[in-house]
Amino acid sequence: MPNEMKTIAIIGGTGAEGSGIALRLAKAGHRVIIGSRDAAKAAAAAYALVECLGGGSITGQENKSAAASAEIAILTVPYSAQQRSVEEIRGSLDGKILVDATAPLMPPKVSRVQLPPGGSAVAALQAMLGEAVRVVSAFQNVSAERLQQVDAPVECDVLVCADDAPARQLVIDLVNGMGLRGVDAGPIANSAAAEALTSLLIWINRKYKVPGSGIRITGLPST
Ligand SMILES: NC(=O)c1ccc[n+]([C@@H]2O[C@H](COP(=O)([O-])OP(=O)(O)OC[C@H]3O[C@@H](n4cnc5c(N)ncnc54)[C@H](OP(=O)(O)O)[C@@H]3O)[C@@H](O)[C@H]2O)c1
Repeated sequence: MPNEMKTIAIIGGTGAEGSGIALRLAKAGHRVIIGSRDAAKAAAAAYALVECLGGGSITGQENKSAAASAEIAILTVPYSAQQRSVEEIRGSLDGKILVDATAPLMPPKVSRVQLPPGGSAVAALQAMLGEAVRVVSAFQNVSAERLQQVDAPVECDVLVCADDAPARQLVIDLVNGMGLRGVDAGPIANSAAAEALTSLLIWINRKYKVPGSGIRITGLPST
C-alpha cells in the first residue's frame, strides 16, 4: 500500500537513532516533529537536520507537544528513560500508534543480552498503556550511522512486531518508504527476539570493527 503523508513525532529525536529515522522519514515526504525534553534543543536539532537533508518538513517541539501534534509517535530514548518518557506524553497518545525502538541495553555490558523481567521492553510498554495505544516494535537492529546515511540503502531488515495487525502493516509501509525493508515479525511478544539481537549486533560491531552490522531475513519473496 503506498504511503500517505503522515505527521510523525520522534520522542528523543535529538539523539542518534531518532535523527536517522527523522531524516529518512522527511526524505520520504512525511512531516517530522523532533521531540526533546528541551524545546530549544529540539528546534536546533530540527534546523540541523533540514540543513543536512537540504530541505524537508522537520520542526522541533518539547516531547509532550510533539506527541500531541502528531498522528504517530516514535520513541527513541535510552531504555533507562523509556517508561518515564512515555508517562510524560501518555495523555497525548490515546488512539494513536506508538512505535518503540527501545532495546533494553543495560550498561556497562551492552553487548550481552539482558532482557527485562517479562522478556521484552516493548511488550512491557504495551501492557503499561493498554488497548488505548497501539504499540509497535521496530528499528532495534538498525544502526543510527546507517540510518543517517540517507542516500545509501540499508542492508538491514526491520523486524516489526505488534498485536494490532493494521498498525503493524502501517509501520511496515512507513519503513519500506524509508529505503529499508520492513518484515512482519508477528505479535508484540516477539519483540523480545529483536531486542535481544541488538546486543549481539553490538558484540559483532566490536569484534569485526564495523560501525553498523545488521540482519537480513532470507527466503522471502522478492518485492
Ligand atoms: N544508536 C543506535 O545505533 C541504535 C540502534 C538501534 C536501536 N537503538 C535504540 O534507540 C534508542 C535511542 O538510542 P540513541 O543511541 O539515539 O540514544 P541517545 O542518543 O543516548 O538518546 C536519545 C535521546 O533520548 C533523550 N534522553 C537521553 N537520556 C534521557 C533521560 N534520562 N530521560 C529522558 N530522555 C533522555 C535525549 O533527548 P533530549 O535530551 O533532547 O530530551 C537524547 O537525545 C535506544 O533505546 C536504543 O537502544 C539505538
